[in-house]
Amino acid sequence: MTDMFRDKIDISLSVNGEPVEARVPAGQHLIDFLRLDQSLTGAHASCEHGVCGACTIRVDGQAVRGCLMLAAQADGADVWTIEGLTDRAEITDLQDAFVARNALQCGFCTPGMLVAAEDLLSRNSQPSREEIREHLSGNYCRCTGYEAIVDAVELVARSRAKGGTA
Ligand code: FES
Ligand code: FES
Repeated sequence: MTDMFRDKIDISLSVNGEPVEARVPAGQHLIDFLRLDQSLTGAHASCEHGVCGACTIRVDGQAVRGCLMLAAQADGADVWTIEGLTDRAEITDLQDAFVARNALQCGFCTPGMLVAAEDLLSRNSQPSREEIREHLSGNYCRCTGYEAIVDAVELVARSRAKGGTA
């Protein structure tokens, strides 16, 4: 029987386009592996119960809660964090729009919000405001209010449709 706290598991995965091999505790959550072992602190650990969305990252093309997935489950996966998406300029227009529309204050929710927003736009290039709200409803923002966030995502959707940047 696996001891979640003492047993170690070897994993091999890709993180932000780079191969990573590690030996992780069987019970370690992916968000903790990324933050503590890989020094990728952009995604936050807050509720750690899958409620707030602060830990949202991309795994095999899907936005997932890093606090609900074990690092061991990411063996063989293609993992992207806000750092990697930023470095390869995939979400520059979203980041610029968040700034332009004052869609962040403390910024705590912002990395998860951006990954979730990009996830939506990758599946639905022209979402309605209602669809944007629905998609981001699992990402809590305690300071900004959602109007500005929805504005920013809508702006980027329109801009991408015209082939430009926000
Ligand atoms: S820390 Fe993962 S959803 Fe809140
Ligand atoms: S900007 Fe502070 S929690 Fe969203």
